[in-house]
Amino acid sequence: MKVARLTLSDRASAGVYKDLSGPEIERVFADSGVEVAEWVRHVIPDEQTGIESLLRELADVEACDLILTTGGTGPSPRDVTPEATKAVLERELPGFGEIMRVQTFPLVPTAILSRSTAGTRGKTLIVNLPGNPKAIGECLPLVIPAIREALRHLQ
Ligand code: MTE
Repeated sequence: MKVARLTLSDRASAGVYKDLSGPEIERVFADSGVEVAEWVRHVIPDEQTGIESLLRELADVEACDLILTTGGTGPSPRDVTPEATKAVLERELPGFGEIMRVQTFPLVPTAILSRSTAGTRGKTLIVNLPGNPKAIGECLPLVIPAIREALRHLQ
């Protein structure tokens, strides 16, 4: 399986701080026993057109099976990941974001500030995750069974 992880952050992409969220995605996958043949790694700013074109390239040209984004899902004006994702999706799978919010809300009341979504473009599954590395550890394991099953359906 070829997986792209895409960190969306103005500050991480400018080198103001280190990207901890992308590596955290890989750690959760390794802990869950998901085998990944190839990781494609990107850290880019919160610019909607740039995000959209990279998502299209990763799906249509690089033929990634799965694209996981982290960051840019909140309520601030620079948070545009869900808008960019919806612009490239052919079919939305809203349950991914819904379950992350519902299941982690009792632990983290700010979970409902994330507008993360998911869906398919061709044979590629795209899933948004919140940007905080701790949030990735809380949210990503919840949806790994559905990711595995969705990828079987898309083959
Ligand atoms: N979900 C969980 N499980 N844990 C968290 O710490 N942080 C929240 C939310 N979802 C959080 C979470 C916060 S504070 C914000 S602002 C939103 O995710 C959006 O974060 P993002 O803009 O970095 O994607």
